[in-house]
Amino acid sequence: MQAAHDVIVIGSGAAGLTAALALAETRRVLVLAKGALDSGSTAWAQGGVAAVLDAGDTFENHVRDTMVAGAGLNDREIVEWVVEQAPRSIARLRDLGVPFNAEGANLHLTREGGHSHRRIVHVNDATGWAIQDALLRAARAQPNITLAQGQTCIDLITGRHAQRFSGEGRVWGVYALAAESGRVEAHVAPATVLATGGAGRVYQFSTAPRGATGDGIAMGWRAGCRVSNMEMMQFHPTCLYHLEVKNFLITEAVRGEGGRLLHPVTGHRFMADYDPERLELAPRDVVARAIDDQIKRFGLDFVHLDISHRPAAFIRAHFPTIHDRLLGLGIDITRQPIPVVPAQHYTCGGVVVDRDARTDLPGLWAAGECTESGLHGANRLASNSLLECFVFGEAAARDIAAHWGTLPAPPPIRPWDESRVTDSDEEVVIKQNWTEIRRFMWNYVGIVRTTKRLERAANRIRLLGQEIEDYYGSFRVTTDLIELRNLHQCADLIVRSALRRRESRGLHFVRDWPLTDAEPRDTVLVP
Ligand code: FAD
Ligand code: SIN
Repeated sequence: MQAAHDVIVIGSGAAGLTAALALAETRRVLVLAKGALDSGSTAWAQGGVAAVLDAGDTFENHVRDTMVAGAGLNDREIVEWVVEQAPRSIARLRDLGVPFNAEGANLHLTREGGHSHRRIVHVNDATGWAIQDALLRAARAQPNITLAQGQTCIDLITGRHAQRFSGEGRVWGVYALAAESGRVEAHVAPATVLATGGAGRVYQFSTAPRGATGDGIAMGWRAGCRVSNMEMMQFHPTCLYHLEVKNFLITEAVRGEGGRLLHPVTGHRFMADYDPERLELAPRDVVARAIDDQIKRFGLDFVHLDISHRPAAFIRAHFPTIHDRLLGLGIDITRQPIPVVPAQHYTCGGVVVDRDARTDLPGLWAAGECTESGLHGANRLASNSLLECFVFGEAAARDIAAHWGTLPAPPPIRPWDESRVTDSDEEVVIKQNWTEIRRFMWNYVGIVRTTKRLERAANRIRLLGQEIEDYYGSFRVTTDLIELRNLHQCADLIVRSALRRRESRGLHFVRDWPLTDAEPRDTVLVP
């Protein structure tokens, strides 16, 4: 069945819903989401959103902090533009009912690593949940928006899918597997927005939700978009270390409010040995590498993050989610340190977009964590990513609306062809390959890299590629298979990008190339 809409938005997180809400004033929008509508990273965000709202702070400070964290690889004009949009984005979220913490007449601002000022607006330690909830409520109330969950998008529809060949480069929508019917449908429209989030699950340990398998990055690449800076994979320094709970983040705001990192046996405050001035509030790459070094050097399973020196009432008021969750696991953070390890957290690279959120392909816009917009450079500054979603989600909507009259109507599109596939006889292949990719990516393409390990990863990716493509070509698609194909595609893009960069910069630290080039250069892969 071929459905017709004005605009298709793939993803119901901060980027997708921001675009959908801005578009819905004039257009009919279909929002597709892989799982539940709130199952992306947005709902999991803890710390908050960065914005200059304090009289003692300036845009220039925020720009400088962003560029320092990004090791100069950022696009300064984009950074300036996004930073200047931030107060407006916060105002709009307040209009939608996001209950940011206030202090008298002003919003309460917390602090995170790499920020020279307090500038993080937040809703306790569950900011993302409050934002996702407000955006979803607004979208549900908007008659021009149709929300469809359980739709795993497989591939973008381009000219080669038209019944009569038509404008090969242009995107006309997406094929998606509907969980309820088990059928693949073509969703067709003059404009499509990719807002599918990151690729964190390509790593064995990640703070990201189960669905962060880089689907949009892989779909964009296969359709012909350039992909940039995929080697810049951010590891959050403080993920809970617990045998049963694998991916619970301990927000950076805990360090922002005084939390200290300690050697778990000696109690030594080790950040003094790595970054004596900024200590625990150094940018994430510095703190994650320091923890990684301690763990490897002393054969530790974890280090300690301790905020128990702050008053118990303060801790309970500022970090109620973390406090309650850990209490349930037998850790009272008002009296005990928290065992933490680094884990993959954010995908800085992605589909290349310009200031209008345009990709290389006509008919396709993209926003949020699946993109590389020039904002983050070699390392994202804490709490700048939700901000990017709001600014670029709106930019996409604005650009689509501005050019609506010039967008051609889609041609008839061929239905999904299942004539040459059968049901899979061996699901174990998917599980095996998925586990293998995530494990070698963690071990060979992690926080500290070497050329030899990257080459080992590249060899495995080559071998697995043949197997996955054979499997994909023979069997009916399932969400697991679609995700495996995308994980593999993203692993390949990450490793190829990492092997291209012959320097260490920001998140990409490679022992064979420890120096940083004088001129920052993006790693751009062209399909
Ligand atoms: P997401 O919110 O991840 O949404 C992706 C959407 O795409 C989902 O709806 C998903 O279903 C859909 N999708 C994916 N693949 C497909 C497919 N194949 N077909 C159909 N739909 C698909 N950033 C901050 O700025 N501040 C913070 O405090 C913060 N804390 C964080 C804490 C955690 C634990 C994590 C994991 C991240 C945090 N981040 C934070 C990062 C931030 O949350 C994300 O970068 C941001 O939410 C990404 O939003 P998005 O809209 O791009 O994607
Ligand atoms: C955190 O709360 O530490 C996460 C903030 C972010 O990823 O920006």
